[in-house]
Amino acid sequence: MDKALLSKTAAAMVAKGKGILAADESSGTCEKRFQSVNVASTEENRRAYRNLLFSTPGIEQYLSGVILFDETARQKAVDGTPIPDYLAKKGIIPGIKVDKGIIDLPFTNAEKVTEGLDGLGKRLEEYFKLGCRFAKWRAVITIGEGIPTHACIYANAHMLARYAAACQAASIVPMIEPEVLLDGNHSAERSEEVHEATLRATYAAIAAYNVSVEHLILKTSMVVSGKDNPRQAGVDEVAERTVRVLKRTVPAAQPGVVFLSGGQSDEAATAHLNAMAAMKNLPWPLTFSYSRALQNPALKTWRGQAANLAAAQKAFHHRAQMNGLAAQGKWEQELEKQAA
Ligand code: 13P
Repeated sequence: MDKALLSKTAAAMVAKGKGILAADESSGTCEKRFQSVNVASTEENRRAYRNLLFSTPGIEQYLSGVILFDETARQKAVDGTPIPDYLAKKGIIPGIKVDKGIIDLPFTNAEKVTEGLDGLGKRLEEYFKLGCRFAKWRAVITIGEGIPTHACIYANAHMLARYAAACQAASIVPMIEPEVLLDGNHSAERSEEVHEATLRATYAAIAAYNVSVEHLILKTSMVVSGKDNPRQAGVDEVAERTVRVLKRTVPAAQPGVVFLSGGQSDEAATAHLNAMAAMKNLPWPLTFSYSRALQNPALKTWRGQAANLAAAQKAFHHRAQMNGLAAQGKWEQELEKQAA
């Protein structure tokens, strides 16, 4: 365990004005995203699309890191070099998704638990050799009638902590991602309660497994209303509830907190981050680690056509720039008008 390297990586991941691109969609998720723009999800198309994102001119100004899927970590960049090396040369830290997806947790109402601990130590050693310096594990918590159960929160917290310990032992910074889904008609208040219970259990497990909070990044959902709730909490309410929960549960010794977008609109994800980052005296830097809220306009512009590459890169650059400003509390809706 190289503590100096872990500290350096974690600090760089949350460098001022930068955030992380989640480009680690599994092949199944990629298929869904590509289907929405009528593109076949072949290995070559996935490579072309990811390279479009990574080779966007100037993108390194806004991206501290990129989360890769296993397939992408083994593919070649536009210049023929391995993608992790290409990113590192641009000053962007390559990261890797190491969980193997979710399954139903038996004896619950289809609640989920994440797989991927078996053989993880060996896989992390290989990813380190490939140049990956941080890793992501996503746990899923669903809100509904009588759920989440204690069993679901407990099982996921322990998986996250065991994975985080394995990462640190391999000198890879763990990005723990307990995602509370926004699916459902619950209130923002209920979401806040569930976030609090989830984060409390997660950090209790982190302590139980001797994971060092100094070398850990939290990737969390924001406290928003369920997407089917007719009363949607406004930007200030989301920001207040989210930061309150984080302050109650996340140790100040942790180097940073990043957010997923989770199905929020592109602009809402940016506005929420901006409102939180503008708050004074936060114990940790806050920034983005979005997939959809960074990529949506680029994917819709690209549509699998090489002729659309430059326009798609412009759209991606714009979202990254807007979120880079939001991470400093310097975004304004006016700036959106300069969109590609
Ligand atoms: P979204 O920003 O699309 O929620 O994706 C982030 C992520 O990495 C989910 O695991």
